[in-house]
Amino acid sequence: MDFEKLRNDFPMITNHPELVYFDNAATTFKPKCVIDAEMEYYNNYCANTHRGDYDIAYQADVKFDESRKIIANFINAEKKEIVFTSGDSMSLNQVAYGLMNRLEKDDEILVSLVEHASCLLPWYRVCEIKGCKIKFIPVNAQGEITVDNLLKVISNKTKIVSIAHISNVLGAINDIKSLVKIAHDYKAIFVCDGAQSVPHMKIDVKDLDVDFLTFSGHKCYGPTGIGVLYGKYHLLKDMEPLCLGGGMNATFDVACNVKYLDSPEKFESGTQNIAGVVGLAKAIEYLNNIGMNNIFEYEKELKRYLIEKISVLNNIKIYNPDNKTGIVAFNINDVFAQDAATLFNHYHICVRSGEHCAKLIHNLLNVDATVRVSVCFYNTKKEIDYFIDVCKKGGDFLDAFFA
Ligand SMILES: Cc1ncc(COP(=O)(O)O)c(C=O)c1O
Repeated sequence: MDFEKLRNDFPMITNHPELVYFDNAATTFKPKCVIDAEMEYYNNYCANTHRGDYDIAYQADVKFDESRKIIANFINAEKKEIVFTSGDSMSLNQVAYGLMNRLEKDDEILVSLVEHASCLLPWYRVCEIKGCKIKFIPVNAQGEITVDNLLKVISNKTKIVSIAHISNVLGAINDIKSLVKIAHDYKAIFVCDGAQSVPHMKIDVKDLDVDFLTFSGHKCYGPTGIGVLYGKYHLLKDMEPLCLGGGMNATFDVACNVKYLDSPEKFESGTQNIAGVVGLAKAIEYLNNIGMNNIFEYEKELKRYLIEKISVLNNIKIYNPDNKTGIVAFNINDVFAQDAATLFNHYHICVRSGEHCAKLIHNLLNVDATVRVSVCFYNTKKEIDYFIDVCKKGGDFLDAFFA
């Protein structure tokens, strides 16, 4: 695969050749085919879904349904197991709210210190409402949740285990399949936050045996405002919808009785993000053409190259040199992370600085903030070389702006 050539597919790259975009864990650029697919909906079959009796409404219905199938196939799920949401955060909130009726006082929900706020705060609220308890699974030095560490905290009180497949700060890949086995031995439900894994590696929900998997379209080269909640059908069938309204009910009457539709429609109240769904399906077709295994290997090689180059600099502390994904967390010695990001910006390099929405992680790293580089398949070794040159300027931080 000629990854360099793929850069031409991205208008953000061809329109801004000076930019080095290293913030792909926050969001990704969109290939032209995704933008075109959205425009095609707005230009040629702009109708609502599941309610029109005319040709373009039918066309929108067909496209929406086909898109669900493409997205389901991508993670080896069934169509009825794919619920559209506004993003990963919304998917996680739906799961947390939806599972509340299974929980009782003193039940335990297991999370970890490296989780994104969206994989923690919905559970905090559930605990407050239901009187359940949050317990933290210890993580190892790489930020991984190991089987041994899960075994240290799981018990018969554990009802839910909710963790990320890949940490958005440390890029550690958790062995989800083994962790799921343990959770299931204890009859706990396993929720996997796939925000940072689905865009970068082949995911097979049947093989992993996760009960729920959540992800965002915009991190998968798709549009913003569209997310996915995968759930095993029997669990979705029993789960309460967070949002009620048109399109999700079968009947309702003056005595306030409401009968819901089946999954996935039960969870898709109101007009859906049709352009977003169509755009996400196009992004997934684009990724399928490249091949997820090719993407994973290429990004791993970019990360290896970056670590090789950055580790010889004596002014940098790297927090996750050994992890195999495209995320590198580091600090320039004696330079506050946000100042470092400003320095990189001066040289047209986009990086993220701060707590990365994972505000508990400082308990682990003993720093308030880090700089995060997150590369993806349209990044190049040439860009990394340029980034390394700018890192070297960090030693003379104030002078660097004028160098
Ligand atoms: C691990 C993880 N979980 C959840 C989210 C939330 O995703 P979104 O903002 O698209 O809802 C992110 C976003 O960065 C993330 O990295």
